[in-house]
Amino acid sequence: MRLFEPFLVRDVEIKNRIIMSPMITNFATPEGYPTDEHVMYFVRRASAGLLITEYTYVNNVDARGSPNQLGLYADELIPKFARLTEAVHNNDSKIFVQLVHAGRKTRRSLIWGNQPIAPSNVPLIDQVREMSEDDVNRVIEDFANASERAEKSGFDGIARSSRIPNSSIPLSRHK
Ligand SMILES: Cc1cc2nc3c(=O)[nH]c(=O)nc-3n(C[C@H](O)[C@H](O)[C@H](O)COP(=O)(O)O)c2cc1C
Repeated sequence: MRLFEPFLVRDVEIKNRIIMSPMITNFATPEGYPTDEHVMYFVRRASAGLLITEYTYVNNVDARGSPNQLGLYADELIPKFARLTEAVHNNDSKIFVQLVHAGRKTRRSLIWGNQPIAPSNVPLIDQVREMSEDDVNRVIEDFANASERAEKSGFDGIARSSRIPNSSIPLSRHK
């Protein structure tokens, strides 16, 4: 039985082979940072070698998909996320953040009144706007910036969400 043996994800040593998959909790504040309850939720699960946060939006323009979701869209949030990673590390576990852009799987009221964007004009909830080249470059930049913030917040790695923004799903992509 190797379940309780350590293993490496690149150079990150994980104490056992139990991984908590990303699951939206809606424990974050409306501004997208972890509450005390949220931190405790992870600490209680720190017997797993690796915890993966719920999907965490990369900008505060059009990336959010749930009301009380985590978001790493601004540098001011780094200390708030550092509280979470520190608490998990103090309990001898590792934590990755899952970054996401909701794409068409959101609605105007969740994204500050803006219109959802998607690779093609195929609505899911509200009407969507087909992404321009500028949108694509902007979202790439958002992921890069959120990744830097994740590192500065003490996360041990980044988990990719497949929803970015639905570009791999042929039904919602016409090009
Ligand atoms: C309540 C709930 C929330 C979830 N939130 C996310 C999420 O934020 N990101 C994600 O990639 N998957 C999410 N998932 C999918 C899970 O991470 C996982 O892939 C799914 O439950 C299948 O796992 P299983 O094959 O072990 O049953 C969620 C699942 C549940 C039940």
